[in-house]
Amino acid sequence: MKILKHKKRKKQKRQQKQPISSSKIALITGANSGIGFAIAQRLLYHSSQNPLDKYRILLGCRNEVKASKARTDLLKEYPNSLIDIVIVDVSSVNSIFKFCRKLKKKYDHIDLLFCNAGILSCVYVDWWIFPHQLLSNPKELFTDTKSIIQPVGNLTEEGLGETFACNIFGHYVMIHQLEDMLAAAGHARIIWTSSCTARRDDYNPIDYQCIEGSSPYESSKYITDIISVALNSRLNQRNIFSFTTHPGVVATNIVSDHLGFVMGKLMKIGFYTARILGLKEETITAWNGSYSNYIVATQPIENLNKYHKYGSYVKPWGSVYYLDELIDRYNENEALSLLKKLDDLILEFKKKH
Ligand SMILES: NC(=O)c1ccc[n+]([C@@H]2O[C@H](COP(=O)([O-])OP(=O)(O)OC[C@H]3O[C@@H](n4cnc5c(N)ncnc54)[C@H](OP(=O)(O)O)[C@@H]3O)[C@@H](O)[C@H]2O)c1
Repeated sequence: MKILKHKKRKKQKRQQKQPISSSKIALITGANSGIGFAIAQRLLYHSSQNPLDKYRILLGCRNEVKASKARTDLLKEYPNSLIDIVIVDVSSVNSIFKFCRKLKKKYDHIDLLFCNAGILSCVYVDWWIFPHQLLSNPKELFTDTKSIIQPVGNLTEEGLGETFACNIFGHYVMIHQLEDMLAAAGHARIIWTSSCTARRDDYNPIDYQCIEGSSPYESSKYITDIISVALNSRLNQRNIFSFTTHPGVVATNIVSDHLGFVMGKLMKIGFYTARILGLKEETITAWNGSYSNYIVATQPIENLNKYHKYGSYVKPWGSVYYLDELIDRYNENEALSLLKKLDDLILEFKKKH
């Protein structure tokens, strides 16, 4: 009797999982707005044009209401598509552990994992930098985040550097926990949204959580790049491939939230002016910005270079294209030693929880 019940439970569990169908599964973090939302749009558009290459989209969001709105908006555009909401706070290791456990129960593979959610925390905007940059380095004015003064020493409730936890470590834990599901897909890709502001000079291997440094965002994006490359040495043997991308400069909430309505609008006008004057980074719309993510998701793997970062760029009249370039001063030993530190950190959390 007991054995029969056990078998019945096992069968029910199997039925709850989404069957491996013709659909590929794409999990996008930070999918309710900006670039994450546009990645979802691009994959759904792709599915509508290529019925044999259909994606089920998992919107990985921390806020249920925002996620529902995003899902409704996507369904309005692509009515018959497969879109699920999965709630996760990528800055909390505990939340990621729970999230991964739930995900494993419901799905059996992941083809594309977009590590996209991110924050750029701000204490205040230094308006005086603008005229200074305009005179000394006008390109920097429209491509850099120097005017956003970031907090130093902010920690999460779990004691991690805030930006590090959200922009990198949460995703790293996710990859660690979901490795078998990625391997089950056959040829899975992990695609990170980095930034063109990622700088080697802002990375300090000792303070890798950037708790003491003044540019946690730029540091987190440089770490994103080197982790993305280094992961390949570990995951390629399981047919999982990792790539890093950047969206150019996009007018999304990540910056405009700090500027307010009027300055946000002025910023956009500035971006368009800079684009007309030839600044190729000014992609401005999330649809343009998500182009490099889309290219890396859909190009044959043999056409992609894991040592390069794929960036979205625009012509002055707005047509989007991509370029790939070597990651600034990548050092394999340094990157592998960082992976080891992150693995140790995961172990500490596992022991605690
Ligand atoms: N915009 C640019 O010019 C630019 C340039 C370079 C790189 N990027 C990168 O692009 C990525 C997407 O940013 P975006 O420009 O599209 O800005 P965005 O519209 O603000 O999107 C950020 C997304 O991340 C989510 N998120 C933030 N913290 C989270 C957490 N702890 N758990 C789960 N989700 C969280 C946000 O959710 P909520 O809505 O709930 O806050 C939002 O959906 C980021 O990694 C950013 O660094 C952007």
